[in-house]
Amino acid sequence: MKTDANQPAVQHCPGCTGHQHLLSRRRFLAAGSGCILGALGVAAGAEAAKVPTVDIGTLKDFAEDGISEKFTKDDFFVLRHQGKLFAASTTCPHMGNTLRLDSQDATRILCGNHGSTFDGEGMVQVGPASSGLVRLGISVSAAGKVTVDPNKQFPQEKWEDKACFVEIP
Ligand code: FES
Repeated sequence: MKTDANQPAVQHCPGCTGHQHLLSRRRFLAAGSGCILGALGVAAGAEAAKVPTVDIGTLKDFAEDGISEKFTKDDFFVLRHQGKLFAASTTCPHMGNTLRLDSQDATRILCGNHGSTFDGEGMVQVGPASSGLVRLGISVSAAGKVTVDPNKQFPQEKWEDKACFVEIP
């Protein structure tokens, strides 16, 4: 087999089907899985490149509880759930597949790779994923503008951090 010396050798984790190894920069940051990092030869602790923050509008743009796909091009969902607004990565916490809204049930997010599902808060409903969606930094200005910072990431054990949700008055 012919190989290109300029390209990193891609090796997949056991059980990985080789999906989604060509990730956008934001998705790469959100994934953080050993599979992807190992495939690209990134050393643990390496500092990731910064990506721009994303202006997602105002709280009025998210007037009801639910899951918005409007910013999946930026690699996150916007979730409004019980008085809080979150940005949640579109990268599956299991093995890095790109998630999507369930076309049959708009209250849940699906992984098409191994079938994990997540609710409107980003919690796992069905595995094999064992943790909820990684949340991103989110803030609201005095003028009401809501901004998501993909450089700040909060796995489920850090969801209490006030930097990963906005309270809706
Ligand atoms: S990649 Fe396995 S459930 Fe999503």
